[in-house]
Amino acid sequence: MNQDELKALVGQAALQYVVPGEVVGVGTGSTVDKFIDALASIRDRVTGAVSSSVRSTQRLQAIGIRVVEATEVPRLGVYIDGADEIDHQGFMIKGGGAALTREKIVADLADRFICIADQSKLVDTLGQFPLPVEVIPMAVPQVIRRFASLGGEAQVRAGVLTDNGHPIVDVRGLRITDPLGLESEINQWPGVVTVGIFARHRASACLLGTPQGVRTLRF
Ligand code: A5P
Repeated sequence: MNQDELKALVGQAALQYVVPGEVVGVGTGSTVDKFIDALASIRDRVTGAVSSSVRSTQRLQAIGIRVVEATEVPRLGVYIDGADEIDHQGFMIKGGGAALTREKIVADLADRFICIADQSKLVDTLGQFPLPVEVIPMAVPQVIRRFASLGGEAQVRAGVLTDNGHPIVDVRGLRITDPLGLESEINQWPGVVTVGIFARHRASACLLGTPQGVRTLRF
C-alpha cells in the first residue's frame, strides 16, 4: 500500500469514533481529507462538524455536512486530526498545513483527540519535522533569535499566511525531548500565537496506517 492508501485506511477507520447525533471536531490535512471523504457515507448520522480550517470547512460543506462555529459548542466528544509527527506518548508536532492555531482551539474543546496518520509519522523523539509556529509579524525577528539560542534554525514559511492572517516560522534542528516543557516555554514568548507542539493537547489514541492494517495506539 502506498502512503495515500494508508491515509485512506485510517480515514475510514476513524468513522468508528464518530458518535451518531453528535457534532464532531474535524482537523486539517491530506489524511483528514480522506476522513472527510469517508464521512460522506454516514453524513445522515452526523449532526454537524466544527472545522479547524477554511479548507476542511469547504470539503465538509461540499459533502453536505453542516459546519458549526466553535463558539456555538461548549464541548465536543471527539476531535479527529492528523499529525506531522507523533511519539510513543501521543505528543505531536502539527501545523505542516498552517492550521495549528484553530486545530489547537478545537482540540481544546474535545474530550478525546483521535490522531490519524500513516506509519511514517511515528517517531521516537519529536523534532525531525520542522516545528511550525504561528507568530505576530512584528515579533518574527525576536522569535527567530530565541529559537537560535535554543539551537534551532527558524525561517519564515515563504508565501504562506494562516487562516488568521499571520506568518508561520518553521524551526529546524530541535530535538524535542521534553514536549510539555518546551511547549510551555515557547507559549510565554511575546508574539507567539501558537506553537505546533501538541503536548498539553496530545492524542488520546492514534490510528496508524500500516501495510498490515490499522494499528491502534492508546495513550
Ligand atoms: C495542519 O496544519 C497539520 O497540523 C496537519 O494535521 C498535519 O500537517 C498532517 O497533515 P497530513 O495529513 O497532510 O500529513
